[in-house]
Amino acid sequence: MRIGMLTGGGDCPGLNAVIRAAVRKGVWHYGDEFVGFLEGWKGVLENRTMALNLETTSGILQKGGTILRSSRTNIKKIDGGFEKCLQSIQAQKLDALIALGGDDTQSISVELAKRGVNCVGVPKTIDNDLSGTDVCFGFDTAVSIATEAVDRLHSTTESHSRVQVVEVMGRDAGWIAVTAGIAGGADVILAPEKPIDIDEVVRLVKARWEREGAKRFAIVVVAEGAQLPHMEGQATIGEKKDAFGHARLSGIGPLLAEEIEKRTGFETRAVVLGHTQRGGTPTAYDRMLATRYGIAAIDLVHQGKFGELVVLRGNAITHIPIADAIAKTRTVGEDLFGVIAGLQPPKS
Ligand code: F6P
Repeated sequence: MRIGMLTGGGDCPGLNAVIRAAVRKGVWHYGDEFVGFLEGWKGVLENRTMALNLETTSGILQKGGTILRSSRTNIKKIDGGFEKCLQSIQAQKLDALIALGGDDTQSISVELAKRGVNCVGVPKTIDNDLSGTDVCFGFDTAVSIATEAVDRLHSTTESHSRVQVVEVMGRDAGWIAVTAGIAGGADVILAPEKPIDIDEVVRLVKARWEREGAKRFAIVVVAEGAQLPHMEGQATIGEKKDAFGHARLSGIGPLLAEEIEKRTGFETRAVVLGHTQRGGTPTAYDRMLATRYGIAAIDLVHQGKFGELVVLRGNAITHIPIADAIAKTRTVGEDLFGVIAGLQPPKS
């Protein structure tokens, strides 16, 4: 078969591992040929490609980013966009198309599938918020980076008896904040799922100063998508929105730090981890998961199971309709918020 592949949306550690695994199994076990579209759906729109074969995918398992590069191109917003994509797919004589991406990228696959394209999806987002799968690759790497940052910030924050706010990624779901916060032993963890209760933040911060024998410092981890009560919308950099209507989030960390310092009188600093969380080599867990997804995706193509997304359920790789996976955001459950509460001093 002749198979196209693309990576869309924000990049994510493990994308290259998926590409490598799919190409290896496809070439060696099914006799497939591959075409890589450059810069996500933009490459399909403009029919810009690179060769994907055993040579071009060699040595990429450990590499962060994506050799195919990425973009947030929304075909739905481009006049005649789907027709142009169909022309490219026809010109490339493709039998199937594998898209690696989150809900925005997969929403284009759903549209192309309606127009007769044999699409298979691989779930990708460091935010880990695609429903239908227990884990997206890239999340473990992002959490490891964020946890290391929280660990490192402990010593300097303690030395200066400060409050340190750490802003991590997470647009609509607080998976990174909650996981890195718990793993890093943060005193306060704030996620988009729950509006920030600033009085509660202040209570928890002050509790560390007031507790007898306690060290006088506090670490607060906040997801970029969280909101202070008086804010209208999330904190953003400028007004610009991407093609899918998402604002550039960032800034809740510094705003929260200001508010904490004002209300407690304790010196409070903020650090924004930003894209650091998406860069560099994937963890062993993400390489493994991404490789399993790559193998499963090419198997799905050969089983003729189109319109499906490979997913992880428990420890098994299976698949679900792409449309189901993008129907809603997978948010952090009450069980994990219960874990956070259990680690904090109760209200008296
Ligand atoms: O969707 C994943 C994500 O990393 C979000 O957490 C973040 O808001 C966004 O991408 C940032 O994307 P960009 O690369 O466009 O700044």
